[in-house]
Amino acid sequence: MTTLESYQMLIDGQWRAASDGGSFASINPFDAKAWAHVPAATSTDVDDAVKAARRAFEDGPWSQSTPLHRATLLRRLGDLIKDNADELARIQILENGKLIREVAGQTNALANHCYFFAGAAEAPLGETLATSVPNMQAFTVREPIGVVAAITPWNSPLALLLWKLCPALAAGNTVVIKPSEVTPVSTLVLARLFHEAGFPDGVVNVVTGAGPVGAELSAHPGVDKIAFTGSTAVGKKIAATAAERLARVSLELGGKSPNIVFPDADLPVAVRGVISGIFAATGQTCMAGSRVLVHTDIYDEFVQALAERTRQIKLGNPLDPETEMGTVACQAQYDKVLSYIEVAKSEGARLVTGGSRPEDPDLADGLFVQPTVFSDVTNDMRIAREEVFGPVAVVIRFADEDDAVSIANDTAFGLAAGVWTRDIARAHRMIRRLRAGTVWINNYRKTNHVAPFGGFKESGIGRENGIHAIEEYTETKTAWIDTGNAIADPFNPRA
Ligand code: NAI
Ligand code: MG
Repeated sequence: MTTLESYQMLIDGQWRAASDGGSFASINPFDAKAWAHVPAATSTDVDDAVKAARRAFEDGPWSQSTPLHRATLLRRLGDLIKDNADELARIQILENGKLIREVAGQTNALANHCYFFAGAAEAPLGETLATSVPNMQAFTVREPIGVVAAITPWNSPLALLLWKLCPALAAGNTVVIKPSEVTPVSTLVLARLFHEAGFPDGVVNVVTGAGPVGAELSAHPGVDKIAFTGSTAVGKKIAATAAERLARVSLELGGKSPNIVFPDADLPVAVRGVISGIFAATGQTCMAGSRVLVHTDIYDEFVQALAERTRQIKLGNPLDPETEMGTVACQAQYDKVLSYIEVAKSEGARLVTGGSRPEDPDLADGLFVQPTVFSDVTNDMRIAREEVFGPVAVVIRFADEDDAVSIANDTAFGLAAGVWTRDIARAHRMIRRLRAGTVWINNYRKTNHVAPFGGFKESGIGRENGIHAIEEYTETKTAWIDTGNAIADPFNPRA
């Protein structure tokens, strides 16, 4: 019998089991086996973590830390992430079936994120104001908000966590993290590195558990800001909870992003872009290009080329570098993806390829879904309106540029969009007309620590990445200094 790896939570610098000893298992989606167990945090644990973060913010060495000191710790963290790249990759693969070829390349990006926000810690944030008020000086300072709750999903557990933590810590906040119950271990392993980098006790805390732990954390009066990535449904609940005490929120939510192919595009390149747009990470990305909009003149030809290449996608063991697409991350998500495939069929969409689990007996234990393409989809179908979060592309026909824009924007979401065209003027027009937080021209899925990322409409509130992300973790304070008793005002004590 193999023994399960066992992990503990980080609260106030201590590695702890749950206060009542409860735990839950992490399941490997490739072989359906439990491989680790982690604590199931109780209300007491959540309360302890928030109080530790509050103490560290108000009284501990963190409250006196200089920007340079915070920058130094973030740089050390980046170095430690590189030193531990293999272990971080291994854990993510075990937890959510991410491919070795995808995670291996991510580690440098994670470290670069730390280095960028290390620099941001020392970047000028306040302003001297030109007030035109005689004998008055005014300036702003940006101060940390306080205790930040970071609640994260399972699809890119470490990247999406660092997108929050790096700016939060650079600005001087303290943090309580609640990772997804599907991927708690990668966050606990990363937390060791925060510890090792020298962040003081209580500055970074992790509580592990399912949705109710996240709900308790969001509702805790000691939390000043909630930074969340996940479903739009939960994002709305968090915003409602936060509204009761006017806690700050930033939300990075779902999408149903259009990937739009014009007849003047380089079509073989567009096919590859559409494929990686939807099937990378087994379709489990917020930015997935899940609605493929194709001009009527090239529609049949494009659908055929897309189907041909999709059929060649190699499913397999995530540890095999040849594997092009892995499993879905958890049973609930697997069931959801298959149920959406049935929804699409029942709505009259035409199944072009995929549509079920693969027959290969080597894949029998894994949560595999074939990469799936539906054509003859109209934008009013549920399969075109709701986020599937799996390897399912729907192809919608459009007549001209205006039609493409109106279909693309006819959605509750607004996270991202792709446009494939060789017409530079059209590219510029489309950038301006698409209601989405990111628009890619002749590419898809690129992100970088310098480039703001976030959604219009129900895709979220606020932006992550880019130098301004640090502002999401600060309050602005305005200071006025009277340099000459200038105001002839009856209420002025010196008038
Ligand atoms: P979810 O939104 O339920 O979970 C995200 C995080 O929120 C997890 O840490 C979870 O434990 C926590 N959570 C759940 N309920 C909560 C509550 N009431 N208050 C506070 N925190 C709570 O996402 P889930 O269940 O993992 O996936 C469901 C669907 O969400 C997916 O099928 C997909 O459509 C979407 N999703 C979108 C993501 C994105 O990047 N935009 C990421 C993950 C999921
Ligand atoms: Mg959920």
